[in-house]
Amino acid sequence: TDDRISRISSSIRVIADFPKPGILFQDITTLLLDPKAFKDTIDLFVERYKEQNINVVAGIEARGFIFGAPIALAIGAKFVPLRKPKKLPGEVISEEYSLEYGTDIMEMHVGAVQAGERALVVDDLIATGGTLSAAIRLLERVGVDVVECACVIELPELKGRNLLGDKPLFVLVS
Ligand code: PRP
Ligand code: MG
Repeated sequence: TDDRISRISSSIRVIADFPKPGILFQDITTLLLDPKAFKDTIDLFVERYKEQNINVVAGIEARGFIFGAPIALAIGAKFVPLRKPKKLPGEVISEEYSLEYGTDIMEMHVGAVQAGERALVVDDLIATGGTLSAAIRLLERVGVDVVECACVIELPELKGRNLLGDKPLFVLVS
């Protein structure tokens, strides 16, 4: 596992001053270029979640889709996209959340999940935690049990975990 984590960690490219001066951008596209690192990433999540009776994997647009969909397939769960506003064609429920400047909205199709289902929320990275906490609120509003959140990368200095309250967060690289 340590070998796999090191390979994953070293496959992530860090780009300074993107998208703005002072930001160290964690670029997972280089992880995706290394098939072994990508497979190890998915395998580590699958090993953790395969026996947890999870029936919903909720992936957060856009980068959460990349990791969420293969995890869902491997553990035999349905995949539910949590999308940016005005993208989903059916009836939606929406949740607003704060960004550094202003707010954004996350949407989910009504009927995609049922009360009492067990969900895993997947994204590539947790920074402030605003995005993941919106996903948790959205799912819990319709009675879904959010078992855990899973990310490839955590930026611990931003303390995004604190925004998740007592919800467990599992990350591969800190
Ligand atoms: C990034 C990242 C997470 C989110 C984390 O997504 O992929 O989803 O920010 O930030 P937070 O913890 O401070 O909320 P972004 O909205 O930049 O877009 P993308 O995934 O569509 O590229
Ligand atoms: Mg994102």
